[in-house]
Amino acid sequence: MNIKTVWTVYFSGTGTTKKVVSTMGTALSEQLGVPLKEYCFNLPKAREQALSFTSEDLVIVGTPVYAGRVPNLLLPYIRDMLSGNQTPAIPVVLYGNRNYDDGLIELRNVLAEHGFCPIGAAAIVGEHSFSRILGAGRPDQEDMAEVQKLIDGVLSKLNTMETVPGEPVSVTGCDPIRPYYTPRDRHGEPIKDFLKAKPVTNPDTCVSCGLCAKLCPMGSIDPQNVSDVIGKCIKCCACVKNCPKGAKYFDHEGYLYHQHELEEQYSSRRAPSEIFL
Ligand SMILES: Cc1cc2nc3c(=O)[nH]c(=O)nc-3n(C[C@H](O)[C@H](O)[C@H](O)COP(=O)(O)O)c2cc1C
Ligand code: SF4
Ligand code: SF4
Repeated sequence: MNIKTVWTVYFSGTGTTKKVVSTMGTALSEQLGVPLKEYCFNLPKAREQALSFTSEDLVIVGTPVYAGRVPNLLLPYIRDMLSGNQTPAIPVVLYGNRNYDDGLIELRNVLAEHGFCPIGAAAIVGEHSFSRILGAGRPDQEDMAEVQKLIDGVLSKLNTMETVPGEPVSVTGCDPIRPYYTPRDRHGEPIKDFLKAKPVTNPDTCVSCGLCAKLCPMGSIDPQNVSDVIGKCIKCCACVKNCPKGAKYFDHEGYLYHQHELEEQYSSRRAPSEIFL
């Protein structure tokens, strides 16, 4: 296939998705000898911009897995604002060492329904947004070796393909897609008010630099008073993990319970990064 531009189009609250798709984009554009264009749709303004692609674009679309799926408040951007036309694509999800459940198949399907043909795909492990110990340091060398295999596989596919195949690449997941994963307490009951949890700010260490307000993907942190979360919080942890003073944190009881449960259950095992070709 005659690819003229490689694109990375991604959301990444804490940087793990960005790391993987940027590595892929850079390597593929260098190997194909074509320019790389990056589009991050973290911010509300960026999600107002529609992007359409041709059969001469190769588009890597990346997102973290939230509750075993594509994050529900970001799905509309991918579904309604990205369109292909016989466009080869690579769906990539990052997950936090628990499970990616139906996140990858959901992303693959939504791209396939809007003019893209997924020719390769990946579910890669990244440090869990909620934790510093669950999936700590990932994606690491071993994960990036899988990413390299995907790059090599996509290059050899592109070399032998005249046009995109009729069927998208097979990936792990259920179709129809299962409901969102629900955090539960010890009695199996959904954790009360989990969705309402919002980060708080330590006034003794916050220096009012405003970075958290600039980074919030929901535009929910009041720049005049950063301890005020005025809108929806998707718990992406961009504010928590990027605050230079470590001043942002969650103190919500249900959130902390869930974080500790995840750490207890999943931090001693290594979930695999998987690629599909
Ligand atoms: C609200 C929320 C829900 C999440 N749900 C899952 C999940 O179901 N399974 C999992 O393994 N990781 C889950 N994660 C962890 C992220 O998928 C993982 O940390 C990913 O690497 C974050 O990507 P980013 O650094 O690009 O933001 C969740 C994270 C958040 C913020
Ligand atoms: S990024 Fe941290 S230090 Fe800066 S305003 Fe936000 S909470 Fe305060
Ligand atoms: S307030 Fe919520 S949505 Fe905004 S950056 Fe922080 S964790 Fe993410």
